[in-house]
Amino acid sequence: MKPTGYFLIKSGHLIDPAQDWDFRSDILIKDGEITVSGCNIDEDSLEQGFTTIDASGLVVSPGFIDIHAHLREPGFEYKETIASGTKAAAKGGFTTISCMPNTDPPIDNVSVVNFIHDRARSDGVVRVLPIGCVTKGRLGKELADMEELASAGVVAFSDDGDPVYDPLVMQLALSYSGDLQLPISNHCQDHNLSRGGVMAEGRVATRLGLPGIPAAAEEAMIARDIALASVTGGRLHIAHLSTAGSVALVHNALEQGIPVTSEVCPHHLCITDKWVFGNNGTYTETAGPFSYDTSTKVYPPLRSDEDVEALIQGLEKGIIPCIATDHAPHDIASKQVTYEDASFGISVFETALGSLMGLVHSGRLSLPALVERLTTGPAQVLGPKFHKFATLAANTPADIVIFDPDNSWVVDVNEFESKGKNTPLAGCTLKGQVLGTLVQGEIVFQKSEFLERVQEVGR
Ligand code: DOR
Repeated sequence: MKPTGYFLIKSGHLIDPAQDWDFRSDILIKDGEITVSGCNIDEDSLEQGFTTIDASGLVVSPGFIDIHAHLREPGFEYKETIASGTKAAAKGGFTTISCMPNTDPPIDNVSVVNFIHDRARSDGVVRVLPIGCVTKGRLGKELADMEELASAGVVAFSDDGDPVYDPLVMQLALSYSGDLQLPISNHCQDHNLSRGGVMAEGRVATRLGLPGIPAAAEEAMIARDIALASVTGGRLHIAHLSTAGSVALVHNALEQGIPVTSEVCPHHLCITDKWVFGNNGTYTETAGPFSYDTSTKVYPPLRSDEDVEALIQGLEKGIIPCIATDHAPHDIASKQVTYEDASFGISVFETALGSLMGLVHSGRLSLPALVERLTTGPAQVLGPKFHKFATLAANTPADIVIFDPDNSWVVDVNEFESKGKNTPLAGCTLKGQVLGTLVQGEIVFQKSEFLERVQEVGR
């Protein structure tokens, strides 16, 4: 059935953290906007030609916003394109995504920003917001023209994949970020400390004989950046927190009134370094033979049970205001090598909700808190202009995800829209699945179960 763009979503469990909504009700969508929501809508009172979506038993929330994804275009189209990446995002319930600038060429000048905007308009199915480089060529030496990039429409700055290593460059970047009111998302990694490491330092690394990455490689740079944010008043955002010590540093900064935001990825919340061993985390101290799963190789690395616990607590308490995927698709050849040689990165869009719902089903996080960290949390990091994409309020763009919180499904990478099949969750059963996604009032993803709920009414 062709979507008409005029939809009545009936009897859904509306969760809208922006308005503190958590109840069953209806939503009317017309001309790309939510026109009425949060009350019972009488079908007889409506102008003809609408399509109903029966959302009973399903959660209806603002579409998810991801402030950290890799779309690989331009330059690495064999890993992902804006077309395949945005389709994967829509399947995961994401309606707005920010793409990192470690492309080739990198997003360090206006023409690449324009290219991304054009490609997103022609090939993309969700909203794509480019992130500009902090430094020219992502080389860490000379600042990119941040003002020009801001005028071209980047929403943040980052050299992600690499840190802004030089403290003076970072200090300058933070000063500009305050003036431009755009965050600097730093990939905090002291590569003198992490050098040669491929997984988290600890017992599993020792047992596998793989070089470890110490927690201090992340924490040392976070401590430095917090000090720089405090002297510059800049907008510091810390990408992919992964250690208990990092959560403590951010907590301490917030208590001192230093404005720092941060994010945590689904994989750092849901799986540990034991998964590096393969066998879906069923590692024991005596298990053998030794093996590993290169799809677990990611930067920052999967960490210990204690780190995962601290991250969940940091998220639950609001110390970490948002979840970001760090969706990092890779081609098969980049992962079918030794652990040392494999590329860092996990394909996350299509498993994010299912894995995160594990936290809800186990009672670690409430459903409204999870939705908050996927919607208003990231929108707040991006700034007030983006708040309208993170609510079900009337007169806002109809960016909506409809998901079944209880549906169990098995991760089959052959069904991924993403070109990146690199996930340690392949073959795992997850509980919680996106059934339909709307961007600006049009259906951009629907499962067959969703189709059964869609009914054209009227003529
Ligand atoms: O695992 C990662 N992959 N971490 C990063 O910071 C970069 C990313 C990539 O671009 O593949």
